Amino acid sequence: MIPNTLKDIANYIVADGKGILAADESTGTIEKRFKSIGVDSTEENRRKYREMLFRAPAMSEAIGGVILFDETIKQVSSDGKPLREIILEKGSLPGIKVDQGLIDFKTVNGEKLTQGLEGLDDRCREYASLGAKFTKWRAVINIDEHIPTQDCIDANMNALAKYASIAQKNGMVPIVEPEVIMDGSHSIDRCYEVTQVSLTSLFSHLSAEGIDIEGTLLKPNMVISGTTNENQASVNEVAEKTLKCLLATVPNELPGIVFLSGGQSDIDATAHLDCMNKIGGNPWKLSFSYGRALQQAALKAWNGEDSNLENAQNAFNHRALMNMKAAQGNWNEKLEAK
Ligand code: 13P
Repeated sequence: MIPNTLKDIANYIVADGKGILAADESTGTIEKRFKSIGVDSTEENRRKYREMLFRAPAMSEAIGGVILFDETIKQVSSDGKPLREIILEKGSLPGIKVDQGLIDFKTVNGEKLTQGLEGLDDRCREYASLGAKFTKWRAVINIDEHIPTQDCIDANMNALAKYASIAQKNGMVPIVEPEVIMDGSHSIDRCYEVTQVSLTSLFSHLSAEGIDIEGTLLKPNMVISGTTNENQASVNEVAEKTLKCLLATVPNELPGIVFLSGGQSDIDATAHLDCMNKIGGNPWKLSFSYGRALQQAALKAWNGEDSNLENAQNAFNHRALMNMKAAQGNWNEKLEAK
């Protein structure tokens, strides 16, 4: 049964260790991913690759929702079936990215503001009529010596709240994604501080906008060391600091937190999620909404060749199942030996 109320949709997506496959790369981003394996980003290649993911057996077990890009929610498979129907047949829900990317917040300092509020109500109505059950909007918060500023954080969180309101009005669960970017030499404690300020601002804007938190999902970064920081935090430290930060800022009635992978290795993203669930005792489900950490291995295995599609599907199945175990605190490194 396809859930219909906001609360039921949100709970369905994160039930029983399920998480989200983020397959909503914009045209520019998927081109970059395909380029890394030397494949042209044609509409047919994008369809073939994503159809392979959506038809994977692990979809039914491990994936409660798939975030799509505009092209994909309207795209039709090799045998004439809309891709969104293949997702539904696997018992997973189609969702849609509705933001329209980033502009400079102030040209001088590297801060960004997400755009896409103009015409959003009309676009949401169309996506709902195509069967989308949830939506995603990503805000980007960069860390450097003098950024982020409170102004930039508040402007982004305000836009997230406005977006969430429009999505809910159209009967779709908003995934709110305030991504504190891991690029940089900053420490894990600096990431903690920026994440805490961002989440505090986000939930205050969501409350001011009257958002139904029980019908919302949060997609945050983990609290983690900057990629070029010399003292990389351990799995345990990442898990403990992420939980502490979330417990200090996120209301209990939120049904689920679905992390982004943000450039973490496949195994790190799984190990961190598992560790948080092993610690346990949290008011919300803790699961995944990974793009790269679910797709990297599959993309490599595919390499643009039809004869590799099955291998690619196996690689995706494996990562999806590993992350499902991690979302239940039941993963360990030995399970990685396929
Ligand atoms: P990553 O897991 O690759 O960060 O992608 C998730 C996503 O949807 C970013 O908006």
